[in-house]
Amino acid sequence: MQEIRVELTDHPKPKPTAADKLEFGTFFTDHMFVMNYDEGEGWHDARIVPFGPIELSPAAMCLHYGQSVFEGMKAYRAVDGRVLLFRPDKNMARLNSSNDRLCIPLIDEKFCEKAIEKLVSIEKDWIPSAEGTSLYIRPFIIGIDPHIGVHPARHLVFIILCCPVGAYYPEGLNPVKIYVEKNYVRAVRGGMGYTKTAGNYAASLKAQDEAEKQNYTQVLWLDGVERKYIEEVGTMNVFFVIGDEIVTPELQGSILPGITRMSSIELLKSWGMNVVERKISIDELAEAARNGRLKEAFGTGTAAVISPIGHLKWGDEIMDINNGEIGPISQRLYDTLTGIQWGKIKDTFGWTVEVK
Ligand code: COI
Repeated sequence: MQEIRVELTDHPKPKPTAADKLEFGTFFTDHMFVMNYDEGEGWHDARIVPFGPIELSPAAMCLHYGQSVFEGMKAYRAVDGRVLLFRPDKNMARLNSSNDRLCIPLIDEKFCEKAIEKLVSIEKDWIPSAEGTSLYIRPFIIGIDPHIGVHPARHLVFIILCCPVGAYYPEGLNPVKIYVEKNYVRAVRGGMGYTKTAGNYAASLKAQDEAEKQNYTQVLWLDGVERKYIEEVGTMNVFFVIGDEIVTPELQGSILPGITRMSSIELLKSWGMNVVERKISIDELAEAARNGRLKEAFGTGTAAVISPIGHLKWGDEIMDINNGEIGPISQRLYDTLTGIQWGKIKDTFGWTVEVK
């Protein structure tokens, strides 16, 4: 395994205070991890250096063709003071799945997990401890060849940033309002929907913008072919409680395989609940809402955690869910998941990794 060189800053920044409210993705810590890839040499020169601008040619390939992948994970300050990561191996495995789809050289997952632990250990004092806060970790890889022919990059950089964060949605744990997107699509099978790549998020901006103008928090995407089956919300996977079944769209290539999604399914199963991964059409959902069988809806994601959905708009049809209040299953999942992440509940699944 390569060594990680460490160069600490001489100018540590003041850390945000409670009054700064920790708006998501706004504050960055003092250091970042950087590692380069050059054809013939592989991944090399792993280092932790002061956070700051990077030099990039205006011809850098990532700027033109979007060869860019990322991950989202968090470090938590447990109630007993320990620092915990949540299933970092799953993030690194997913990063390699995205790498593979985008012709990015694979990373050594174990080594990158160690790099994350080392960076988080150096940035320990940046991890907030107030209820609902954490240190968001953003690993990403971009192709940087100064060349505007279209082909996979031969030179890339892998960077990890950290930012102390509070809730992703201003609503916090209060149910969000979601708009079912009818015109635009995010991804299709055979495309890149299952990866965490910049282009998927670029594809979502127009719809997101239109939803916000109508006072909705996000959009719910339907499949790109029939515009019929529910896929995901831009920053989270979705679950619906219909009668005695908890349904989430099956992974079929155009949906992000969320780690919070996977953990929620595992938790629900461990409670003996009837959770099913299958196709679910928007007509089935609307019908369930009309006849009173749609009891709860919620999203899952690293940034979003468990986010109840209180209101869905599909064309002229409005679905008000659980009187716009958080339901018992969403609440139990939120309490258990965050209980494990913040070390309040014993981690019987072995999901957390302590950072020393
Ligand atoms: C995450 O939940 O970590 C994400 O990557 C969603 C986001 C784009 C903020």
